[in-house]
Amino acid sequence: MTETEILRPHAEELYADELEALARTDRRTRPPSWKLSPWAVVAYLMGETLDDGKVITAKYIGSRRLIEIAVATLATDRALLLLGMPGTAKTWVSEHLAAAVSGDSTLLVQGTAGTDETAIRYGWNYARLLAEGPSHSAMVPSPVMRAMGEGRIARVEELTRIPSDVQDALITVLSEKSLPIPELDDEVQAVKGFNVIATANDRDRGVNELSSALRRRFNTVVLPPPATHDEEVEIVRSRVASLGQALDLPDAITADDEINRVVTVFRELRRGVSEDGKTKIKTPSGTMSTAEAISVLINGIALAAHFGDGSLRADDVAAGLVGAIVKDPVQDRVVWQEYVETVVKDRWRGLYRSCRSL
Ligand SMILES: Nc1ncnc2c1ncn2[C@@H]1O[C@H](COP(=O)(O)OP(=O)(O)O)[C@@H](O)[C@H]1O
Ligand SMILES: [Mg+2]
Repeated sequence: MTETEILRPHAEELYADELEALARTDRRTRPPSWKLSPWAVVAYLMGETLDDGKVITAKYIGSRRLIEIAVATLATDRALLLLGMPGTAKTWVSEHLAAAVSGDSTLLVQGTAGTDETAIRYGWNYARLLAEGPSHSAMVPSPVMRAMGEGRIARVEELTRIPSDVQDALITVLSEKSLPIPELDDEVQAVKGFNVIATANDRDRGVNELSSALRRRFNTVVLPPPATHDEEVEIVRSRVASLGQALDLPDAITADDEINRVVTVFRELRRGVSEDGKTKIKTPSGTMSTAEAISVLINGIALAAHFGDGSLRADDVAAGLVGAIVKDPVQDRVVWQEYVETVVKDRWRGLYRSCRSL
């Protein structure tokens, strides 16, 4: 398979040229096994123009200090927990941090209610286990075990969705930096450079609480929703542009007006008040995250490109908006209709007509 056929290349492949340019010019000290210095990792995430003119694009738009704290944590013996509402770029930042620090973002455990200990420790290839008995070649190492052996970053997504007793398998790993293999009377000791980035949703609180023993092993960095309207517009604009390209969507002409409108709708419904502070607005049951604003626009662009004249119009956006906002067919529909009648009607006639005709 050629590279151009991959639907979603990993960060270290997609941004290989930027990582390479940073590695080449980076004169600062690198912690053991790190591909870049902490400074260069932050530059990779926040964007930078290098001395030779090479432009490093911004991956994370928001507080530089938060990213510095996250990167500094990875250079210590504490692991990093990225916490926040859905769609605040926790997964995105985790992938880019792992790509920049280890050159590999693929050592990943996806946390679910069904995640078992083998995802954090190791499992067995049963055919081999039966044939040969327990041996290193019959073992199936988890991503965490591989990261330990290679001195890389392991990622654990949605840590709090993992059952508590399984989460506890991480405690030994993080405190002893070793993973015992009793069947072989052996262990894997972490090589310098090993660390863990976990993400957790603060809406999931109470699903499976992090034990205090595990929490102590983590430094928590909370990723906030975008602070200002302009910041959110910038995030959406840059992600829509690169996603549109990655999906080979024909170049739809995306008026900044439409992006502005979608961001305004999302921010108002999220905060429960109009941007001028004058009208109180009911909030829907869903999260109204930046990530969903991005998909509303991507959907609109696909509609415009394939079924319209190629420019994104109110009609193309309206359908996506309803889908993103009305998650509960009864309650949310009332919220949305009220918003359309009290806010959209007087402000955006075109969008109002499109919403009414759905
Ligand atoms: N502050 C931000 N800077 C850059 N991209 C962002 C930001 N906030 C959200 N995004 C975008 O939103 C999308 C969803 O982010 P994701 O990492 O999946 O969210 P989470 O894991 O927090 O639910 C990503 O495409 C990401 O680029
Ligand atoms: Mg996520």
